[in-house]
Amino acid sequence: MTTTQPHPKTSPLIELSGIAKTFVVRRRVGRLRRTRAEVHAVSDLSFTVSRGEMVGYIGPNGAGKSTTIKMLTGILVPSAGLLRVAGIEPSRERIQLARRIGVVFGQRTTLWWDLPLRDSFGLLRRIYKIPPARYRENLDRFVDLLDLGPLLDVPVRQLSLGQRMRGDITAALLHDPEVLYLDEPTIGLDIVSKARVREFLREVNAGQGTTVLLTTHDLTDIEQLCSRVMVIDHGRLMYDGDLDGLHSLGDSERTLVVDLAEPLPAIEVDGGRVVRVDGPRQWLAFPAAASAAPLVAAIADRYPLADLSIQEPAIEAVIARMYAEGVAS
Ligand SMILES: Nc1ncnc2c1ncn2[C@@H]1O[C@H](COP(=O)(O)OP(=O)(O)OP(=O)(O)O)[C@@H](O)[C@H]1O
Ligand SMILES: [Mg+2]
Repeated sequence: MTTTQPHPKTSPLIELSGIAKTFVVRRRVGRLRRTRAEVHAVSDLSFTVSRGEMVGYIGPNGAGKSTTIKMLTGILVPSAGLLRVAGIEPSRERIQLARRIGVVFGQRTTLWWDLPLRDSFGLLRRIYKIPPARYRENLDRFVDLLDLGPLLDVPVRQLSLGQRMRGDITAALLHDPEVLYLDEPTIGLDIVSKARVREFLREVNAGQGTTVLLTTHDLTDIEQLCSRVMVIDHGRLMYDGDLDGLHSLGDSERTLVVDLAEPLPAIEVDGGRVVRVDGPRQWLAFPAAASAAPLVAAIADRYPLADLSIQEPAIEAVIARMYAEGVAS
């Protein structure tokens, strides 16, 4: 059961079936007594990820995202279920798996704190036995793409968070892993650093075909990078699909912003309802699934329409509602 099966190229690179992780926590009650409680961090989790995909993995605090990633890297052993990454059972064959995956935990560096980045990278070259030419080529490319040149000789502890994160991402990729797990890689970064990291990840996924599983609380990361998103809450998968589907969940609404030729009382029209008026501008909410065309036609027919635009529902609002519903049920 521990042997690595030869894996046809067509099968999923990551496979989870009925995965659960239960933590047993013991708490002291009073001076002598202890209670034993179980935390079901992940329950009956099943999904697959194909080679080359870039998948967003989102959910509220404590949902089970980091626990999932730790099981996928072999750091944690699942309490139940089947798990395969590149045909390998992570917790049993952690060393073999390590050559095939890269991981970035945004909250904690995997670099050597007192060493300059260059030396950390050099150590990784030896640990992973990266051929010298390949190593040089990769390092040059990452240094260029992530603008690391001036930072290579600075000890990690002196780097800013954004600089350190770029170092961590490089460290995770030097050995050309097939899979990259990112657990909050943009946490705490400023807008410029976030944009650079996103651009880089897009390049790694599209250019190298690296499969990416991305956990984040910044939904802009997801919107800009992932065509597929999985939502986890209370350890259970709540949604797995494309971003549009996520938008249309929970009968969300779109907004038609109408500029009239003059300020007028709230527009009265079938299929839309005015939610805000500001001078000649009015905001009408209408069902996200409905076409805007009849609504626009009806307004143009009866009101002096100067201009209009449509606002998609903010993904944050859709997800906030999902979380609220998940918690309530
Ligand atoms: N080692 C552990 N021992 C006991 N409970 C744990 C342990 N690790 C995680 N948990 C619990 O498991 C649940 C899931 O935690 P996890 O870290 O996977 O959440 P997360 O989705 O990554 O959250 P966040 O967005 O805050 O990072 C939480 O209730 C957490 O308290
Ligand atoms: Mg986490």
